[in-house]
Amino acid sequence: MTRFVDKVAVVTGAGSGLGRATSKRLASEGAKVACLDIATEAAQATADAINAQGGTAKAYTCDVSDPTSARAAVDAAASDLGRVQLAVTCAGIGRLVNTHEMSWELWRKIMGVNLDGTLLICQAAIPYLLDGGGRIVTVASNAGLMGQPYSAAYCASKGGVVNLTKALAAEYIRKGITVNCVAPGGMDTPLQNEFATTLPEGASFKDLAKVMTPMGTSQPEEVAAVIAFVASDEGRYMTGSIVSIDGGLTI
Ligand SMILES: NC(=O)c1ccc[n+]([C@@H]2O[C@H](COP(=O)([O-])OP(=O)(O)OC[C@H]3O[C@@H](n4cnc5c(N)ncnc54)[C@H](O)[C@@H]3O)[C@@H](O)[C@H]2O)c1
Repeated sequence: MTRFVDKVAVVTGAGSGLGRATSKRLASEGAKVACLDIATEAAQATADAINAQGGTAKAYTCDVSDPTSARAAVDAAASDLGRVQLAVTCAGIGRLVNTHEMSWELWRKIMGVNLDGTLLICQAAIPYLLDGGGRIVTVASNAGLMGQPYSAAYCASKGGVVNLTKALAAEYIRKGITVNCVAPGGMDTPLQNEFATTLPEGASFKDLAKVMTPMGTSQPEEVAAVIAFVASDEGRYMTGSIVSIDGGLTI
C-alpha cells in the first residue's frame, strides 16, 4: 500500500513497541517519518531500520513531557522532512503501585508523559496541520476506558487522553484536522513486561483478571495497522473516535 506517499509523520515513543511498529508501518507505505523518543539510541535504531529498508526516517531526541523539547523536535522534523501532516503520540509509561503508597513524583511522571506529553506534541504539530490539513492519532488504552487496579495515574492519564482527543476533534473539525484515538489492550511490548513485573506488595494477579482476555495479547504491528488506517485517507470521515483494539476487554 502507498497511503502515505509524500506525507510527513511525527511518531513519539518511536524507539520501542507500538511507536517503532507504527513508524515502520507508515514508512513502509511511503511516509517520511520523524522518530521521536527520549531514548536517543532506540529512536536512531528505528530510523536506521527504516532507512535500511529503503524508507525515509530521521531520529530526534525528545522528552514529550517537556514543552521546549516537544516543540523543538516537531519543528526540527518539519524543517528537515517537510510540513508535518500526521502526528501519532505513542510515548507512554506506566507502573503498578498501591495508590496510597504512590509518590507524588510517580503520579506527576506518568501524567507528564502520557497526558501532558500528548497535549504538548499536539500543540507543536497543530500549526503545521492547520496549514493544509492533517491528522492526529493519540494512543490511550483500555485503562482509559475502565478502572484497573494499582493504576490510578495510568488510568487517569489515559482517560485524559481519551477526552483530550474528543476536545481537539471538536475544536479543529472545521479546520481540516481529524483527531482520533486508538486504545489498545495488552500488547506484547517492553511496557507490558514492566507491568507484569511490578505487582505491588500485597497485590495478586487475580486482581488483574479484568484486564486479561481469552484472546491473549496483541502484537504492536496489529495495532499499528489500525493506527495507519485511521491516519490514512480511508479514515477520512472519522474524527473524535476512540478505536478499541483490546481483545474484548471493554465489551
Ligand atoms: N503494551 C501494552 O500492553 C499497552 C496497552 C495499552 C496501551 N499502551 C500504550 O501504547 C503506547 C506505547 O506503549 P508500548 O507498549 O509500545 O511501550 P514501550 O515501553 O515499548 O515504548 C514506549 C516508548 O516511549 C518512550 N518514552 C517514554 N517516556 C518518554 C518521554 N518522556 N518522551 C519521549 N518518549 C518517551 C520510551 O523510551 C519507549 O521507547 C503507550 O502510550 C502505552 O501506554 C500499551
